[in-house]
Amino acid sequence: MSASSSIFDYCQGVVPLRPRLEQWMVDLLENRPRLQALTAEFGAPLNIQSADPFQRNITALTECVDDFDLPFLPMFARKANKCLTYVDTARDMGIGIDTASHAEVEQCLAQGVPGHRIVCTAAVKDEPLMALCAAGGVTVILDNFDELALLEGVAKDGGQVVSVGLRLNGFVRNGAPLYSRFGFPLDQVPGIAARLAGAGKLRLDGLHFHLNGYSAEDRIAAISQTLPLIAEIRGADGGDFFLDIGGGIPMNYLADAGQWNDWLAALDAALAGQRAPITQHNDSLGRKAGSGGDAGSVDSYPVAQSLVQTRWVRQILNATDGDRTIAAHLREAKVSLHCEPGRSLLDGCGVTVARVAFCKQDSAGVPVIGVQMNRTQSRSGFAEFALDPMMVPGSDQRGAAVEGYLAGTYCTESEWLTRRKMVFPHGVRPGDLMIFPNTAGYLMHFLESRSHQFPLARNVFVQADATDSATLDHIDR
Ligand SMILES: Cc1ncc(COP(=O)(O)O)c(C=O)c1O
Repeated sequence: MSASSSIFDYCQGVVPLRPRLEQWMVDLLENRPRLQALTAEFGAPLNIQSADPFQRNITALTECVDDFDLPFLPMFARKANKCLTYVDTARDMGIGIDTASHAEVEQCLAQGVPGHRIVCTAAVKDEPLMALCAAGGVTVILDNFDELALLEGVAKDGGQVVSVGLRLNGFVRNGAPLYSRFGFPLDQVPGIAARLAGAGKLRLDGLHFHLNGYSAEDRIAAISQTLPLIAEIRGADGGDFFLDIGGGIPMNYLADAGQWNDWLAALDAALAGQRAPITQHNDSLGRKAGSGGDAGSVDSYPVAQSLVQTRWVRQILNATDGDRTIAAHLREAKVSLHCEPGRSLLDGCGVTVARVAFCKQDSAGVPVIGVQMNRTQSRSGFAEFALDPMMVPGSDQRGAAVEGYLAGTYCTESEWLTRRKMVFPHGVRPGDLMIFPNTAGYLMHFLESRSHQFPLARNVFVQADATDSATLDHIDR
């Protein structure tokens, strides 16, 4: 990633959180006519994406695990982004897909992803979904006994043996339980394995967990606690078997991760009344005011991280459990390592572009910049978008500096695109474009909604060679 200073000149946080940008993003932002042509043709808000970083991220991940001489299948968690371009890319690169709904499974099969490279981890699975997976040869990750009974019924009526994995819970790290609402307790797994073997229509092909958060140590503990279970249920004949460690591979969004601590210190100072607010109504964004005790954390993705992506994976595989590394244990057990990264594979793949509609003042005299986009179009499960959007001017006619807040299209007082205060040193006017950075992983799609019947943003893909072509993703056709 590189950064050109000029594209940050028109908008930044009063205390900045400057994003990392891919070169294709920089090229796009520096090409005002192209951005205007794209939004004129496809509308705004618009999700502009490139699959090139996706390919690069997949290659880096597979090469990293190759170093450990392990059978490995990453399964792209497509809940993180709905576009079919990524499905096609994953298919062509020979990796798998992790699916979370009937539509996701159906689309993957229709795009020609082989069933044995699709895993279904949907949080709730009904009979049509189970039947689709069974017919398509998709591996079903079972979460509970009701699902098991439902799939046994589906398999009894169907001709084929269904591939199954079991989702696990009940891991412990340093004596403390790792809570999860998902999965079977570890001690129930041998009984379930025996039940599956007895009935013969469901084939237990692997074990699975997906842990909340991004801790490598949690994964190391969970793998260590799963390996003895695999040895127990697999017995002596030991055919193909996978251990799927889910997603949660972390990534870093900031150009300078050190900015996070500066920003946090400024937030704390503002909350303590020691400086002017940097958030709307001096909102703590989840952080508690005052000193002493737990300062709380900001309700945003941890945008500043140093142990990310392949370094994080290496940390896990190099960790020791007893006299050997985790990688050596997996190798000796002849277990195929699977994982389900979503966000981290989409690092660098997208931006969301929206038009400024107005600049006014609220009842307290604070500038409000109205942007034609709603907050669900740049949110994951976290409340705050903790990155600076960039602005590309609609014209060279500029005005006085403005400091204010970005409001979206939904009609509530709470509809802010970010609660962080932004500064526009050269003013902000209708027709200017706001660019929300690195949104392909969850931010553009995970919560997107059509309240007020606004249309959803469309999704176009551009080429890294910066030709003028842009292709509408098939999900929008
Ligand atoms: C079961 C499962 N697998 C994979 C993922 C992807 O996680 P991430 O995008 O953090 O890699 C998720 C995310 O919620 C998940 O629930």
